[in-house]
Amino acid sequence: MNKAMKIALLGKGKTGGKVLELLLESRIQHTVFDSGNPPTKENLINHDIIISFLPGEAFKNYISLIVETKIPVICGSTGIKFSENFNAELIANNVTWIYATNFSLGMNLVYEMIKVMSNASKIFPSLTYSLHEIHHTKKLDSPSGTALSWMSWLNHDVTITSERIGDVPGIHELSLLTSSEKISIRHEALDRKIFAEGALYAAKKLFTDKTLLPGLHLFQNIVLDDLHKKEKKNDGDK
Ligand SMILES: NC(=O)c1ccc[n+]([C@@H]2O[C@H](COP(=O)([O-])OP(=O)(O)OC[C@H]3O[C@@H](n4cnc5c(N)ncnc54)[C@H](OP(=O)(O)O)[C@@H]3O)[C@@H](O)[C@H]2O)c1
Repeated sequence: MNKAMKIALLGKGKTGGKVLELLLESRIQHTVFDSGNPPTKENLINHDIIISFLPGEAFKNYISLIVETKIPVICGSTGIKFSENFNAELIANNVTWIYATNFSLGMNLVYEMIKVMSNASKIFPSLTYSLHEIHHTKKLDSPSGTALSWMSWLNHDVTITSERIGDVPGIHELSLLTSSEKISIRHEALDRKIFAEGALYAAKKLFTDKTLLPGLHLFQNIVLDDLHKKEKKNDGDK
């Protein structure tokens, strides 16, 4: 019988709390860590995967000890700039990490759409792009990590505007404006559960897919790989 996966969940706040709900629903073994029960090398041992939805500033303080445990990590904490040699450090420790500033699976479809939109200048002589993001008032980083990712996917100058309202989980809208047309790509997180679902997708992948090499992987690359694998399979079915 296959060994059951045991998760160490760092953070059970607005987002980690949603992961916790899924773990309970799916009866996946887990331990929750927070300020009252902070992670240490000793209490992380015996977990197969770490999922972090700690605030970035808090997570940074635990990075070295987590690397030392050699436990694979799904990192959802944002506002972290990994050092240039971090990938090499993970490879040297023979450990695999997956990270994303946005674990929504649907965000990967948006990526494909933005890549199409980024070609617009080939057909429109004059256009401008704008990007607006809205999040809850407790969000610390601005613009959001997702907005910055969208800008880098677009690979063009874009003005980013941010709003902080109530408890909005996340809305991003990228628009292309010509003198006579407006085209928008809008992604709205209706429930923080989408991040939990993506993080668990990544955790299951890390636990079962032994072809994933050690190092720091972008969640997006893993999902796009799966998406295109499935597309190819469907083409083959025709
Ligand atoms: N990648 C994604 O898809 C995605 C999606 C949404 C959010 N995020 C990111 O996830 C992170 C958390 O967001 P959130 O809105 O869920 O935050 P939150 O509601 O404030 O929850 C933070 C959690 O971290 C714990 N924590 C804080 N400082 C700690 C420390 N020093 N040691 C141990 N535990 C600590 C808190 O425990 P206590 O209450 O005990 O302090 C709480 O359980 C942020 O970086 C956010 O930007 C990422």
